[in-house]
Amino acid sequence: MQPTTLSEYLARNAGEAALSDLIERIASACWPISDLVNASALAGHQGSTDEINPQGEVQKPLDILADEIFVRSCSANTNLSALISEEVEEITWVNPAQTGAYVLAYDPLDGSSNLDVDLSVGSIFAVSKLRSDSAEDVLPNGSDLISSGYAIYGPSTMLVLTFGERVDGFTLDKNTDSFVLTHPHMTVPPHAIEFAINVSFLRHWDETIQSYISDCLQGPDGPRQKSFNMRWMASMVADVHRILIRGGVFLYPVDADNHLAGGNLRLLYEAMPMAMIVEAAGGGATDGHIPLLDVAAATPHQRTPVILGAREETDLIRAAYS
Ligand code: F6P
Repeated sequence: MQPTTLSEYLARNAGEAALSDLIERIASACWPISDLVNASALAGHQGSTDEINPQGEVQKPLDILADEIFVRSCSANTNLSALISEEVEEITWVNPAQTGAYVLAYDPLDGSSNLDVDLSVGSIFAVSKLRSDSAEDVLPNGSDLISSGYAIYGPSTMLVLTFGERVDGFTLDKNTDSFVLTHPHMTVPPHAIEFAINVSFLRHWDETIQSYISDCLQGPDGPRQKSFNMRWMASMVADVHRILIRGGVFLYPVDADNHLAGGNLRLLYEAMPMAMIVEAAGGGATDGHIPLLDVAAATPHQRTPVILGAREETDLIRAAYS
């Protein structure tokens, strides 16, 4: 049987032709980005530029190129109103605000510090609908999201996509230059035996996170009565992808070091899209207190604590905080 292509899948599942077109455009941005990632050493695209992005981070050459590719590919969508990019301080208005028009929030190249060490990086995106004709309403709430996804540039390039009810994964077939459905109905198992957190910040964590991780580390003789494994890719896409494939929980909590900024990861183009995906796959996603999809955005580059993955773990952490 012929595998289902992304185009065939979108025709059946996207609901609106304009949304299908926008997802196709995002996918078409991911092919050249995947090629650029593969060839980054050959093309002299490793190392850093002299530019600083809105988060105060030094940009990699591919951060900038990937952003340009997203803008070029997606701006031609006739229903697109605005772009919110990790790499651009201000919101880019492609068309005037109009109720129901799309807003695309995206991180064109997440985890880009992994490029120079040849580890997986990705692109993350969320599509929402404008609540009104007012430009003031451009920052989406979780309930405004109509689709989210990510591309992972690893040993293969995959696109993982949700419209809110299920999560499906497509692999880029470089022979035909098309994404084909290889991972239908991705799920996050409710129980975890693996956690992902940057342990070097242990001294900054609050008591809740310290005691959660300490309980996991005590293994079968501790309160969790089982052994936990640990992984940290320093690439949110790669860590979340692993959780969608084999389970686990991901934590980037607020801590004594990052609390003034409100956390580390960005709400609109990291936390919210991943929360939508993980929830559609049966997992949980919280800032520690409320669901990530209920966190209100006040600024385009707002940060938030992120805890997502196996529901048993996210519920446990939320209960411990309360
Ligand atoms: O926000 C960018 C990012 O690279 C994420 O993809 C990743 O989860 C995180 O930062 C890694 O942060 P750290 O280097 O502090 O472990």
